[in-house]
Amino acid sequence: MQRQADGILRQRHSRYNPAHDSCPLPYRIGYGEDAHRLSAGRSLVLGGVTVPAERGAVAHSDGDVILHALSDALLAGVAAGDIGQYFPDTDAAWKDLDSAQILTRALDVTRERGYTLAQLSLVVTLDQPRLGPLRAEIAAHVAALCGLAPGEVGLSFKTSERLAPDHVQARVTVLLLPEADHE
Ligand code: C5P
Ligand code: MG
Repeated sequence: MQRQADGILRQRHSRYNPAHDSCPLPYRIGYGEDAHRLSAGRSLVLGGVTVPAERGAVAHSDGDVILHALSDALLAGVAAGDIGQYFPDTDAAWKDLDSAQILTRALDVTRERGYTLAQLSLVVTLDQPRLGPLRAEIAAHVAALCGLAPGEVGLSFKTSERLAPDHVQARVTVLLLPEADHE
């Protein structure tokens, strides 16, 4: 029965590797989200891009909701906990941390677990400012941080319809594929 299932999966998914006995699926999906309060005097950093804005995220780190949600999605995808376990916000060492470091760690953990990020879809909810003009820049920056092509980063913006005017939120789904050469 297992041999038959392996055969079908191998036919359908060229990257399927039955050696991944911890997870026989040929892919894994991760979901993550993050939100921060907005306040004057803080910068608004989204996907590593500093956005011209009157208010920015109040946070222990740089408050980049895109990179935090993406890092959580990666860790969730390989069932490796969440970023708070790796970078506790009670630890002064992580104050004003560049979130690219958090993402790098989450990508490393994903690889150590035998998976690689193939594609991601992210949604940012923010009333002001309008982010549409920055879509290509933010997507390209996130793609570069992840080693993906810009076309593998889907980026949507939503307002909260003024239901949550004082916060910025990101939600991210990732698709993970087994690393071909993972032992
Ligand atoms: O209000 P609603 O969420 O329906 O608005 C969606 C439209 O506004 C989308 O085209 C989206 O790209 C754009 N938008 C934006 N910047 C935001 C929020 C939404 O460009 N901060
Ligand atoms: Mg709408």
